[in-house]
This record gives sequence, structure tokens and C-alpha cells, in this order.
Amino acid sequence: MAIEKIGVIGAGQMGTGISHVLALSGYDVVLDDINKDALAKAIGLIEKNMQRQLAKGLIKEEQIKPALARIRVTQTLDDLKDRDLVIEAATEDEAIKKKIFDLSREKYPDAKLFGLTTGLAVMKINSELGYEPVTYSELTQDEDFWAGCKSCVNYEILMSKDRKNCMCTAMLYDPKDHYKPEETKQFFEENKTGLERLLQFKRWKLLKPFLKKKEDNGNNSGSQQKSFLQYFFNI
Ligand SMILES: NC(=O)c1ccc[n+]([C@@H]2O[C@H](COP(=O)([O-])OP(=O)(O)OC[C@H]3O[C@@H](n4cnc5c(N)ncnc54)[C@H](O)[C@@H]3O)[C@@H](O)[C@H]2O)c1
Repeated sequence: MAIEKIGVIGAGQMGTGISHVLALSGYDVVLDDINKDALAKAIGLIEKNMQRQLAKGLIKEEQIKPALARIRVTQTLDDLKDRDLVIEAATEDEAIKKKIFDLSREKYPDAKLFGLTTGLAVMKINSELGYEPVTYSELTQDEDFWAGCKSCVNYEILMSKDRKNCMCTAMLYDPKDHYKPEETKQFFEENKTGLERLLQFKRWKLLKPFLKKKEDNGNNSGSQQKSFLQYFFNI
């Protein structure tokens, strides 16, 4: 199925950036938020950021008006019923995430549900729903999904790793092959200290070269041997 119409739930930092990139890429977007002010703020910010892109020569003037016209805002979840794809970028609230998960399972029972997160709190919520941590290669290669990362501050890191790793941990719920929520929940509880350390390690290891590059303008030492962790996590 060709994806043309996309719904985005949550008009915060992520939802705003995702809607911006999608509309510029030609998708018809409905942006949903429970907060009317957040929707107004998102549209204002998207326009401002497009003007910034224009000033930098990244987009053309004639792209802005049609892209903005492609974004419709709503406070009614029902307005997403006709969407080919719905991206959830709402608050880290367990009840909301569960409601969205249940709705996705009901509407798209065969769809794989997956996401990326830097937050241990989100990993916990996802684990309780039956998601398991996976490698990036087990996620989709669909450009539409990865386009959502373009607005992230760590996009440069993601691309430098050929989309095989970044600051986020990938999590997947495969309806055809998944563990029981009790099992993924138990796995999280038993491994959360290790997962937290991995997130800290990623922050340290992945950000270091970029901070260093800024400091010494790309002068790197080059030939250090990779450790076991570097190979294992493709860091
Ligand atoms: N910000 C990041 O760098 C980042 C990176 C990866 C993942 N995430 C995840 O993306 C999600 C959103 O992050 P953010 O930084 O944009 O948060 P944010 O707090 O900036 O925005 C969340 C928005 O969701 C809205 N919302 C809350 N409940 C809703 C509901 N029931 N229906 C519709 N909208 C609702 C809020 O009004 C708010 O505008 C979080 O779950 C976060 O863990 C964020």
C-alpha cells in the first residue's frame, strides 16, 4: 500500500519536527493534540523553521506554502481514521501509550509496531506492552520511518552509523512473533540496570567524536582498535 496520508499524534517537539519533514516531502498530514495551544505553536514553529531552511538555501520559497497547506490540525482522534500511517509522538504517559497501542492493534492487527527511544521510562512502558529491544536492522528500511529522525539533534550521528545505531534503543512488537508482555516486562526488570548503562555508554561514546570534531575541526587520531562493546553495539 502506498502511503500518502499520515497522522501524527502529539504536537510537541517530536510531532512538530515529524510533521514538518513529512509535509515538505509531499505527504498529507493530520496533526493531533489534546492541547489547542500546542497545535498553534507547532504550526508557527514549522513555518518559522521552513523560513530558516529557506534562508540557508535548503529549500525553495515555492515549497513553503504548499507544504504548510498539507498540514491540518485536529483535537479529535477520529480525524485520523482515514490515515495510511499514524505516528504516535505523545507524552510519556503509560495510559496514553497503552490506549494508542490497543488502537493500533485493533485497526492494524498484522502491522509490526516499532519505535526508537532514549528514555528508560519509555522502554519500561513498551516492555510492559510486549515490545522487545532489537537491533536497528530489525526495524524497517522504509524511508518514511527514518524521515522522522531528520528533525532530531542526533541525526548526524545516525547517518554516520549508516542507520545501524544511534542514541536511541530500538523496540519492536511483531504480531507474528512476540513474547508475552509478562516475559518482556520481566526481561526489562531484570536488565534495566544494564540497559541504563548502555544508554549512558551510548551518550558518552557516540557524542564524544562529534564534540571532539567541533573542538579540533575534524582532526582525528584514526587507528585505535575497537573494543568488544564497540563491535557488539556497532558503536
Ligand atoms: N524529544 C526527543 O528527542 C525524543 C526522542 C525520541 C523519542 N521521543 C518520544 O516522543 C514522544 C514525544 O516527545 P516530545 O519531546 O515531542 O514530547 P513533548 O512533551 O514536547 O510533546 C508531547 C505532546 O503530546 C501531547 N499529548 C499528550 N497526550 C496526548 C493525547 N492523548 N493525544 C494527543 N496528544 C497528546 C501533549 O499535549 C504535547 O503537546 C515521547 O514519548 C518521547 O519519549 C522523544
